[in-house]
Order: sequence, then C-alpha cells, then structure tokens
Amino acid sequence: MKKVVLAYSGGLDTSCCIQWLKDKGFDVICFSANLGSEFSPDDLKKRAKASGASKIYIKDLRNEFAQDYILPSLKAGAVYEGKYLLSTSLGRPLIAKHLIEVAKNEHAEYVAHGCTGKGNDQVRFEITTAILAPAIKTVAPLRQWELYSREEEIEYAKINHIPIKTSKEKVYSIDKNIWGVSVEGGALEDLSREPLENSYYFVKPLNKTPNKETSVEIEFKEGAPVRLGGRNLDFLGIIEKLNALGALCGIGRTDNIEDRVVGIKSREIYEAPAAWILHAAHRELESLTIDRETLFYKELVAQKYSQLIYQGFWFTPLKNALDAFVNVTQKPVNGLIRLKLYKGNIVISGRKSARSLYKKEFATYGKGDTFDRTLAEGFIKLLAMPYMK
Ligand code: ARG
Repeated sequence: MKKVVLAYSGGLDTSCCIQWLKDKGFDVICFSANLGSEFSPDDLKKRAKASGASKIYIKDLRNEFAQDYILPSLKAGAVYEGKYLLSTSLGRPLIAKHLIEVAKNEHAEYVAHGCTGKGNDQVRFEITTAILAPAIKTVAPLRQWELYSREEEIEYAKINHIPIKTSKEKVYSIDKNIWGVSVEGGALEDLSREPLENSYYFVKPLNKTPNKETSVEIEFKEGAPVRLGGRNLDFLGIIEKLNALGALCGIGRTDNIEDRVVGIKSREIYEAPAAWILHAAHRELESLTIDRETLFYKELVAQKYSQLIYQGFWFTPLKNALDAFVNVTQKPVNGLIRLKLYKGNIVISGRKSARSLYKKEFATYGKGDTFDRTLAEGFIKLLAMPYMK
C-alpha cells in the first residue's frame, strides 16, 4: 500500500482529506504540529482515528517556532507589504520540515496537505518539500477533488461518517499560531464593509478596551527580547504575555488587502498584538543603537526578507545570507524600551541602552553643546557641489 503523511489540523478540510486519500488507495498517517492554536492532542488522536487514519504523530513545535522562525523574522524587521507580520507564512516551512521528517521515518513516498489551489500555503509547503526532500511527492486533495464549497465538504463528511466540529454558520477560515491569527472569507469578502464583530478573534474591539494606558517594558539582548517588566522570560513566554496584554488594549488588529503568490489580491484580517508590540520596540531600539547607513540598508533587506517568507523561500541560500547580515547588525541592539498601550496604539514612552549612539552633547539645544557648528557651512557646500551650475 502507498503511504502518505498528511499535515492534519483536525478541521473540516484535512478530515475530509483522510477519507479521500484512503479512497485513492493510501495508508494515511497524520501529522499535527502545535504552533499555538487551540490544541488538544487527545481530541486530535481520536478524530484522526475516527476519520480513518492509521496513525498520528503530534509534536509541540512552539519553542522551535519562536526561536528559529519568529525571532529571525523579528530581528530582520520583516513586514509584508507594510502590514503583515507573517504569522501564518512563518509556520509553514516549519510544519513542512517536520512533515518530511515523519515521512522519512515512516518510509512514506508521499506527503499531503489540505491547502486550497489558490492560496499561499500550498506554495510554501511544496517549495519547502522540493528543497528539503525532492524525492518526496506531494498530494493536494483540495486541488483535485470534486468538492467545490464548504457545504459540499460538510455533505461529504456526513456521508462518510467523518466527525467534524464545524457547522455551516462557521463562516471564516481561520489560521492561528502564537505569532498571530489570520481570518479570511465570509462577510470579509465585501471590501466596502468593515469587519463584523464576529470576525474578532481575541483582540478586543476598541470600544471595549480600558480607558487608561497599560505600560510595558521590554529588554533586548542582541536583538532578542529577554525580559518583560523586569522579569527574565523565554521568548515564547514573552510572546504569550504580550498577546494577552495587547489583546485587552485592542493592539495589533489589521485589515489588509494583500498580494498572494498566485497573483490574487485578497482580504485578510490579522490579529497579532505581541508581534506588533515587539516589532515596534525592536525597531525603536535599533533606531537608537544602529548607525544610519546600516539602518538604511537593513530596511532594504527587511523588504526582501518579508517577501522570501511570504512566498515560501525560507530554506534558501538568499534567506541564509540575509540572516548572516541581520545577525551582524543585531550585536549592538541591547537595551530597554518602555511602551504604552492604549486603544489600539503603541506609544514609545522610554528608551535606555548602554549601546546608545545618541550623544546629548551633540543633539542638545541647551547648555553643554559640544557640536562644532562652524563645520556645518563647508559641509553643506560640499553636499550641494555636484548639483551647482
Ligand atoms: N494570507 C495569509 C498568508 O498567506 C494567511 C493564509 C491562511 N489564512 C487563513 N485564514 N486560513 O500568510
């Protein structure tokens, strides 16, 4: 029998995938990764078995996700099209990497995923597989089967006695991990309308947030967050705390039109409080500790870096080379940033760094000025010289 390892979430799509793959003659082994969604291993085991899988592997990848995927992206300052901190995108190469490991372990020739034929995730899964395990073939049931709507899938599940939790009222497609939640589809497809209340996942709508500010203090070491509110915490712990705190203050919810890899423009709502708070704090500390030219160049790198992540090119030579550049830039990024969270806003309220490049004796308009203003005139003349007739 042909063996396939399916990236399994327990949702409607991947549950139907099990049955469909079995009908095609596969022995189906499931693999589920915990990246920080609501996750119950027992429930997943039960449902995978009841749906017809012969075996299920479950891995908690939250720490690996935080350390090896989110952190490099944070240091790089990667933001896709100015508004997306890449939560879903960053998770895919990690899941694919482990999916392949399971496949190798099981001597399976095939892997499968439940991604649609018009999204980004199929691209990310399959590029990763092609790079890391070119001999393994991918099956993508959603690109082949005869089910064309959610309703048809639910019918298919009923006929085949596949246990599903979802109902027809569940109108959004949601992907969640520790770095953010992506919400798509349903009423959101009408671009002229603001998102309905039921599209809020865990960030509070602004009219339900406190009327006073919440202060946060984050300390960084070489670009990595290491302390929150004066307490040592691992990166995963910091993300979890900031998600909870930020969500209460309405932080990090964006309504995006984005350019998918396959050329479609689509609308997606993201909720990523911790991601935006950390991004803001990190960027602020960089302003203080990195020199002008490196900062400028780093922004160019961030643009390309975000595109590599979004388009699925995580395991590539260019991505590794950019990491090397970014890591060099992060050496001086040490210090503390204080922020206030208030009704969706992140406001910088204090900075401290032993590696600060700010020199008060140069910047001051008050006493103690040591900047030699007589140098300015000649300096400006030289700057203008190439353009003077
Ligand atoms: N548009 C996002 C991305 O490409 C999220 C994709 C998954 N979204 C979802 N709602 N299921 O990274």
